[in-house]
Amino acid sequence: MKAAHHPAGRDTDVIEGTSRNVQWPNCLFLLILRICSALKYGREKLIRRVFLLIIGTLPGNLGAQPADQVHAVQNIFHPLSKPAEILDDTARLVLLICLVIFLIVGGLLLYSVVRFRHRGAEDDTSEPSQVYGSNAIELAWTIPPILIVIVLVLITARTVGEISNPQFSKNVVQLRVIGHRFWWELQYPDYGVTAANEIHVPVSYLPSTPRPIQMTLDSADVAHGFWVPELNGKLWVVPNHRNMMWIQPSVLGIYLGNCTVLCGDQHANMLIRVIVEPPEDFEKWIAGQKAPAVADPSVEDGRREFIENSCGTCHQIAGTPGANGVFGPDLTHFMSRQTLGSGVADNNDENLRSWLRDPQVLKPGCLMPNMKLDDKEVDLIFAYLKTLK
Ligand code: CUA
Repeated sequence: MKAAHHPAGRDTDVIEGTSRNVQWPNCLFLLILRICSALKYGREKLIRRVFLLIIGTLPGNLGAQPADQVHAVQNIFHPLSKPAEILDDTARLVLLICLVIFLIVGGLLLYSVVRFRHRGAEDDTSEPSQVYGSNAIELAWTIPPILIVIVLVLITARTVGEISNPQFSKNVVQLRVIGHRFWWELQYPDYGVTAANEIHVPVSYLPSTPRPIQMTLDSADVAHGFWVPELNGKLWVVPNHRNMMWIQPSVLGIYLGNCTVLCGDQHANMLIRVIVEPPEDFEKWIAGQKAPAVADPSVEDGRREFIENSCGTCHQIAGTPGANGVFGPDLTHFMSRQTLGSGVADNNDENLRSWLRDPQVLKPGCLMPNMKLDDKEVDLIFAYLKTLK
């Protein structure tokens, strides 16, 4: 039960425990990364060397940073991936322009309030000079605002264009995300892999060798929303209409996201976990997911209970007769996941047993019913699931 109040990876001590001492070198590294990517020097060998040098020498930097660091505080002002960075740059530029306007207007206002305040007896009561119809003033407050608006339109249009018409290289990773109440189905069509809730993607350390992830968003039922703030803006996931987004994360770690459209009882626990890992780890993960389900003869009884209790009508376990459902998450490699119930609890023995006994305890209102398993059945199915690595 404890886990229900602290959905996995969202405890504040997670981030404090792992990231405090690696914060500033990361910032420095990201700064350099972003300056170089902005200058489009990514392909220059020299810059690449400098990158590698920095990766190699800074303690706690990207290269040495643990891949299991949880970016638990979701922060739009801390972008660590391509579209989020572009959005952040635009937002800051627009904010800066608005700040300058605010200071000018506010300054003039303040000046007028002080300069022309009521002074009692010494007040000059004569009529102030009349400027009605002054062409100079009319032009001054018409032309500059129009120019400012045009600049803002151009900045926005460029950002929209850059994000919605990306030029992908051949090594883009295709990912299909399908929202269900209350979990996420994930398909990697190029690899023939189906997973759930935890999105594994390769990191793009260097701007010159990007490995973007192109995502299509579909819904199997109602409207959902997909949002991982440090990677990209939020996007609707609607039935019968496919939306597209892409990400290109530049820092290792685990990124948390949420469903952003109220979709039912467990909307708040329809959590997203993006695991950004080194390319070789990603390939290893893909290979693991492609492998056939482990068929351990010692848990034959558990497999039988799984089928007999109709778990297989909702859950697929590849290559297992009777387990080909698509209503719930694919369990072929269930034990490779860090969490249960779309991020609601850590995937550990205690929580897994609790889930098997009654999923409504950890995730009240989720669409998996209490199957009323007795202790023996729970033990057998538990033992079987534990072999699905
Ligand atoms: Cu799905 Cu809210």
